This record gives sequence, C-alpha cells and structure tokens, in this order.
Amino acid sequence: MAETLTEAENTTTSRSPHAAIVVVDFGSQYSMLIARRIRELNTYCEVIPYNAEASVLDHLDVRGFVLSGGPNSVYDPEAPRAADWVFESGLPVLGICYGMQLMADQLGGKVGPGREREFGPATITASVNAPLLAGLPAELDVWMSHGDRIEELPAGFASLAVSENSPIAVMADVERGYYGLQFHPEVVHTPRGGELIANYVRGVCGAEADWTPGNFIEETVEAILAQVGDGQVVCGLSGGVDSAVAATLVHRAIGDRLTCIFVDNGLLRAREAEEVVDTFERNLHMNLRHIDARQRFLSALAEVTNPETKRIRIGNTFIEVFEAEAKTIEGARFLCQGTLYPDVIESASHGAGSARIKSHHNVGGLPERMDLDLVEPLRFLFKDEVRRIGAELGLPDEILWRQPFPGPGLAVRIIGEVTEERVGVLQAADAIFMEEVRAAGLYRDLWQSFAVLTDTRTVGVMGDFRTYGYAVGLRAVVAEDAMTADWARLPYDLLARVSNRIVNEVDAVNRVVYDITSKPPGTIEWE
Ligand code: XMP
Repeated sequence: MAETLTEAENTTTSRSPHAAIVVVDFGSQYSMLIARRIRELNTYCEVIPYNAEASVLDHLDVRGFVLSGGPNSVYDPEAPRAADWVFESGLPVLGICYGMQLMADQLGGKVGPGREREFGPATITASVNAPLLAGLPAELDVWMSHGDRIEELPAGFASLAVSENSPIAVMADVERGYYGLQFHPEVVHTPRGGELIANYVRGVCGAEADWTPGNFIEETVEAILAQVGDGQVVCGLSGGVDSAVAATLVHRAIGDRLTCIFVDNGLLRAREAEEVVDTFERNLHMNLRHIDARQRFLSALAEVTNPETKRIRIGNTFIEVFEAEAKTIEGARFLCQGTLYPDVIESASHGAGSARIKSHHNVGGLPERMDLDLVEPLRFLFKDEVRRIGAELGLPDEILWRQPFPGPGLAVRIIGEVTEERVGVLQAADAIFMEEVRAAGLYRDLWQSFAVLTDTRTVGVMGDFRTYGYAVGLRAVVAEDAMTADWARLPYDLLARVSNRIVNEVDAVNRVVYDITSKPPGTIEWE
C-alpha cells in the first residue's frame, strides 16, 4: 500500500491543498461507500488499509479518521488493530461497528460477545446531545450489524444512545472528538446517516467543502504539466468514459503533445468506431490514430471457443498492436491510463488474492515493456465523480453515460467461434436491443444491457417455412458496481418488441431468450 500511494504522489498528485478525511479499512464491504458519502459532501477522502504506514498520508491535510467495520472480533488475537499513530494524531476518530469496538478495546474499555446478534433495521434513542447528533431527532432509524458488544467504556467515554439490544449504540468522548457508532450511517437503510456523516466531517473535524470538480480539473491539469514537462504522452482510447475523461484532462494540460491510439479490434458494437473518431478527432480536436486491426484480431481468434483463451489472445494482440503504434510516436515517454480509485484500493489492499474468475484485459505489462511512466489523472476518483468531471470538461452525454463495455468486446458475447459473420449478426441484434432500451428511456437506469449470440440453433417457423437459426440471449442488469448485479425487470412489452424485431430483422436468428440470472451466482458477461 505504502508503495502504491507513494508512487501516486510521484505521478499525477502532489500534496493536496484540501482538508481530508481518511477511512481506515478493516475489511468492511462498505469502506468505499463511506468514502463516497464523504466526497459527496465535497470533502476529499481516501481509504487506506489498516496496516498502512503513517507516511502514506504525507500528501494530505488530514482532519479526521473513520475506522471502518470489518468481519473480525476484537478479542480474537489475530484481529487487525488500528495503528497507534491514528490515536496519537490528536485528530477526531469515528469508529463504525468493528471500528467502534476497536476504539473501545484499544483505548482501555472492554468488548465481549453479545448475547444476541443484531442485524438489520433498529431504532436508537439518544439521551445526550453531542456535535455528532446535532440537528437530529432523539429517535433515529438505523441499520445495525454487530455480534459483539461493548461491556465497559474506556475512560472519558459516555453512551449517547441506546437501541433495544445495545445499551451503547453511540458512544463518545466529545472532548477528544472520538465517536463510535454501532450501526452503519453510510447505507441507505440509515435514512439520516448522511446528516450524521456531515456532522462528523464538518462539525467535529472542521473539514471544509472545497473538493469540487472545478478545483479538481484545475489542480490535475497543473499536476499533469508538472509531471510531463515538455514530454509526449500516449493514451489508449476505448470509447468508454474513463479513458475519455483521462485523455481530455491530459489534452487540456498539454494539447497536441498527447496522441491517442484507438485500436479497432472489430469486436465493438455497431457504429462505435465511427463515434469514437467523431468525438475525439472532429469534436475535441485531439491527435487520434485510428488503427484498423480487425483482421488481425479475427485471425488471432480463429477456431478459438474457450472463453479464457479468447481473452488472452485478445489481450496479447492488443498489446502488440498498441506497442507497435506507440513506438512510432517520437519521444513518447508517458502512458495515460483511466485507472480509477476502486482499482487502486483493490490492488493495494490486504488479504489473499481471490480466485481468478475471468482474465481482464487492459494494457497490463505495457508500461514496463516500453519503459513508459504512467499518467493516471483519475486514480483518486470514483466512477460517479469521473462523470461529473467529464461533464465539467464538456464531454458529450453519449460518452459520459455509456454503459461499461468489456475490453474483449463482443468476443465474450459470442459463444463459440468468433467470425466476421457472427460479429455482424450480434451487432445487428444488439443494436436493436439498445435502440429499444433507449426509446423506452431505460438506458441510464441499467448498468448494462446487451445481446449475446449463442451457439445453439433451434427450429422455428416463419410463414410456411421451417427455420433453423441461432438463439440470441438478452441480458440487462441493474447494479451499483459490477461486483453484484440483479437482472433487470424489463417491461414485457419492451421485451416483446425487441424479440419481434430481432427475429424479423436479423436473418440468422429465429429465437430470443431473456437471461434472468443475478450475479452472483452468474456473472454479467456470459464468458
Ligand atoms: P463479469 O462478467 O465478471 O463482469 O460479471 C463484470 C464487469 O466487468 C466487465 N468486464 C470487463 N471489463 N475488461 C474490462 O474492462 C474485461 O476483460 C472485462 N470482462 C468483463 C463487464 O462488462 C462487467 O461490467
């Protein structure tokens, strides 16, 4: 972790002039959500793993800490602890669930297993007011989640609120700005949790609301200039929002010294390649190299049916094509990437690596191979923030709100062999689905919606003729992020229209099915 953040400092971010709150992560699924809630208040926030060194915060003006929840019990000898430097900093600390119990334990109180585990909705009643609860009613609906309980408060602490099952639902040492919550203020099931967080950030920590898209752009442009000097930067555009916003920021900083490379792998959605060229070359006036590598990718995929092999062949081919082109750009020393904060946290965080479900395709390995330094202007942003920045930079809605699209493209939506003809069939079916989803006003509500071409042929009848064509799957999901997703309850008449049109308008297809699998256990893409 220390390594990652220090590296970040050397790249696009120097010392931040903004007040910051730091979330110390103890393995809660909500750590990033807490950070997002704080940033929604326009106050900068970073997440660090519990075992990070204090020096990872050198570039920040830290005003307070949040200790996240976590799956452990504090009395387990192996349980992660908060670093002493957190409590020695003299700054306010807010502990949430596990974080609260850690505070109690590390500051001299006592924590033990509760008689009853408490999960789900609860009502707390506050008996003592404090800056954290300012402006809130005495009774609050909250989302509890704990098995352990505090048996003895540390010196200086008092209980501020109780719930039916916990005599200490909120604890505080107001003097030191130490607060503990037995519930999750960051989830939607704690309706007034946002006010609680705002009370902490503003009232307790005194952190200003000075982290805005406008400030971000100005400072990032300066940081890019400082990093790149009079060097040349290369950027791979995918058509997605992340690389688009990253490239636009770099373009704003250094103009023509940025060269974008767009590799058309022939596995894009219908008309996507033209849209990318239109947007970046014609509208945004960027240097764009449009590489038509369609045949090359198709050859690499010939006779391949295994999903992992497809992904690996596509990844390797992309790197070869990109590298060959980048080498022709004289003096290119930097590679711009649209890496986002969740990837940074994930790759930096502790814990054993999880099983590889799918090989993800990116420019992995390129920076080392080509000896390029990274420019990653988005590495401290969440997706919704990237969209806000993009809007401020004047990028068109079609790019900002584009649904995510996998690097290996339609290849992982074509079950079986990928051929030019089958890509064409899928593009046609997919375009109909997208057109109808847009017409129904649902495009932005869906995390993703797309068609899949199966390798199953089925019998049908059209007019007086027997048909024997391919079955197409429709997939539409709603999600907050791609870790989990639920299949979208699309209106029947929309599905009916799409099915009719696909069977009538796309020759090779005579059947349409709708995928009703959530993730988990399914994944979003079929391969
Ligand atoms: P799965 O299918 O694993 O997908 O549920 C989760 C999200 O990731 C996208 N995806 C990819 N994105 N390169 C990417 O950049 C890839 O290789 C890749 N594979 C899947 C997928 O579209 C979904 O949003």
